[in-house]
Amino acid sequence: MKNIIVVCTLIIAFLAKNVAANEPDSAFLMSYATVKNNGHNGLHYAWSVDQKNWHGIGPEFRFLFCDFGAWGSQKRMLTPFLFQDIEGTWHAIWSLNEQVGQFAHAETNDLYIWQPQSYPEVMDEGNVMLPEVSYRAEEKDYLITWLSEVNETQKVYKTTTTDFKNYTPTVEGLESERLNARKEVVIDGEKQLGTIFKVPWSLIDGLIQFNEQSKYREMQRAERLTDDADRYADLKTLSAEISADPNQSKAISDMLIGIFFEDINYAADGGLYAELIQNRGFEYTPADRKFRDRSWNSKKAWSFTGNEEDFFIDTVGPIHTNQKHYAVLNISETGEAIQNEGFDGIALKANEKYDFSVFAKGLEGSNGTLLIRLFDESGNVIAEGTTKKLNNDWKKLELTLTASESTDKASLQIIPQFAGKLALDMVSLFPQQTFKNRKNGLRPDLAQAIADLHPRFVRFPGGCVTHGDGLDNIYRWKNTIGPLESRKPDRNIWNYHQSMGLGYFEYFQFCEDIGAEPLPVIAAGVPCQNSSTGGHGQQGGVALCDMDQYVQDILDLIEWANGDINSKWGKLRAEAGHPEPFNLKYVGIGNEDLITDIFEERFKLIYDAIREKYPEIVVIGTVGPFSEGSDYRAGWEFATELQLPMVDEHYYQPPGWYINNQDYYDRYDRSKSKVYLGEYATHIPRRRLNMETALCDALHLINVERNADVVNMTSYAPLLAKFGHTQWNPDLIYFNNTNVFLTTDYYVQKLFGQNSGDEYIASSIKLSDGNEQVTKRVGSSLVRDSKTGDFILKLVNLLPVQIDAKINFTELPVATEEAALIILQGEVTDEKATPKTSSISVSSEFEYKLPAYSLSLIRLNSDH
Ligand code: AHR
Repeated sequence: MKNIIVVCTLIIAFLAKNVAANEPDSAFLMSYATVKNNGHNGLHYAWSVDQKNWHGIGPEFRFLFCDFGAWGSQKRMLTPFLFQDIEGTWHAIWSLNEQVGQFAHAETNDLYIWQPQSYPEVMDEGNVMLPEVSYRAEEKDYLITWLSEVNETQKVYKTTTTDFKNYTPTVEGLESERLNARKEVVIDGEKQLGTIFKVPWSLIDGLIQFNEQSKYREMQRAERLTDDADRYADLKTLSAEISADPNQSKAISDMLIGIFFEDINYAADGGLYAELIQNRGFEYTPADRKFRDRSWNSKKAWSFTGNEEDFFIDTVGPIHTNQKHYAVLNISETGEAIQNEGFDGIALKANEKYDFSVFAKGLEGSNGTLLIRLFDESGNVIAEGTTKKLNNDWKKLELTLTASESTDKASLQIIPQFAGKLALDMVSLFPQQTFKNRKNGLRPDLAQAIADLHPRFVRFPGGCVTHGDGLDNIYRWKNTIGPLESRKPDRNIWNYHQSMGLGYFEYFQFCEDIGAEPLPVIAAGVPCQNSSTGGHGQQGGVALCDMDQYVQDILDLIEWANGDINSKWGKLRAEAGHPEPFNLKYVGIGNEDLITDIFEERFKLIYDAIREKYPEIVVIGTVGPFSEGSDYRAGWEFATELQLPMVDEHYYQPPGWYINNQDYYDRYDRSKSKVYLGEYATHIPRRRLNMETALCDALHLINVERNADVVNMTSYAPLLAKFGHTQWNPDLIYFNNTNVFLTTDYYVQKLFGQNSGDEYIASSIKLSDGNEQVTKRVGSSLVRDSKTGDFILKLVNLLPVQIDAKINFTELPVATEEAALIILQGEVTDEKATPKTSSISVSSEFEYKLPAYSLSLIRLNSDH
């Protein structure tokens, strides 16, 4: 309990902040960025009444963070220059790095709530250093000058603007046009360079208060359940009274739990997509990994038992222009073989059948059959077969292999039964046993684990994969349909390769197979805001002259999914084996984008076109990567202006955020766009999943359920991760080639997914201890599922003590009988807890003991 006192004291100290009776009317404000941390620390302020003694606010609190380019090397703010325009709006401009011909601009009214940034391109060649702004009264415009090094000569350059959106062409300027207004002062013992303004004290006071509030919020975010055993050492078993008020019920979304599928962590190739051959099309390229791994090339995962130079890659006359590379073998004597190691080995099951296929052609008159063998780790042959003869044109050769034993690490060999030259491409080994036995289908155990969540929708293909690393890497759905040999592989933004074997047809088919709505998310004509390839960030977006085609591609997708078989795109769907429409209802546009003019212009073009041609489609917009900040605010403003049906929110938060933001959606205006919480998860240090993260997810979902009239859909992110190939933790489901590992947080999703309702019934929980620190660690939600008539009570207890609850449902028509009870419980660091199912006798009034650190679910039948 002593820790509760510490927290309360801090809260009181915060609320009872000293207000001095003698404050200055005005003071000096210095804005600067330190050179620490390679310029990543953002904009700081310090104040002074005499310009001698400076007081850093924070100190060195980050009031503005640069969002330019990729994480790691970019996101730098160098030499910021603060400036107030004639209308009183503050602007900051700064250098982004020592190379690019762009500077950054952002504006604000209060110096702490900033609008989204822009990065005007002002130099074709040369960098932009020490930018400055001044107002030209006569011209009624703003002059921006900077220094730039072109051909090792430093010169002054300039542009002008009236709105900080449009800029005149850059020309050379004069040194006399420079203000050189930055000053050097000593703050906390260190020299800093920045701009100084005399401002009203109230402005500085606002900054001090903002900083204090931020610190308070940070303190709340830092709250951990791992500290609770100590914090609540004196707390004894609590009692609680839970009651329901059916007169206060509301309709809620029955689409609440869905899944977020992104090809990250080898989720697709080597994961859910059941193909066993890695790099089957010889299309891996060093560019997939930004040239940082020379072994990642067309030969990746392949080896040749003959002379190395007798195995090479060619591109002349490929099977399809989208599959440019193929292997050429020069066999000197029969027995030489090309071998594939699969994805960390090929896992095979005894007596199961595997479909082998290859496109092959004899070169320079070669001819003959191919012996296909599967070997186990010890070199024993566990399956073999011989193809028909190849000829001098590309020909698909197929056969079925049956494994004689199970192994985790088989390899495949193709052994030409002749000496001579031949070409091979699209080598495939596919288990016949896939999810629902689909051809070109999915790994059954992984697909089943996903299906068990009972997701109401599947979002795909990302995440960042959707908008790609740079303009050329934007995910194009048309490249992912049709015969496999005609699909266009691409670099994966997470630094590997997408074969596109798992393409749009397979995504839609999977949705249908598990009874979930498809939710494709398409880039808003801008690449990932953190792009580094091909330039930085949004890179100006898809050129406006190409936007007609870009928009048309999206309209074509809707026709492909829903159109009649006589329509151009509906016909392709039918030819792929699905004459019935897929009944697409939702389309997401954009993912966590910077809400810039570039974004808005393109988004609107897409949105208007969809609305006009397919008004029945629910278009989901995007409001940035965080639960607050400039993109969140601007994204919401834009969505409200366009009256978008729904927006996609993302946030990854620590436990303390979920504990202290339970009213986050209670505040949402019900008349504005609905919310799709498209990415969220509880993150703790080392990014593990355990009962602490699971209980925080559950607490959040309980609060979301209460608000499911405005939050209509949610998806935990990311979904899948292959051990040894993980770029992002935590993930809901981990796997290797043979096993699936379900996490504590998976069980929370499953519990909510399998027990959703469409009516929310107000309920209250009254604890014997009314301390807010205690009450906010307990949550409950009561919903009714109109299909079954069941009432579902979810109870979450984040406290280290049991709660003896008396449940009064006299107002509800519940049947007096056994009710299903599911409990997920464990110590907060427990990573292995699994839910236990049993039953409990219920009546209109009954008792239930909520174990410490638990999520409980009671499913009660209705009495009629
Ligand atoms: O979920 C992983 C990544 O997190 C997604 O690709 C991206 O949208 C977000 O930043």
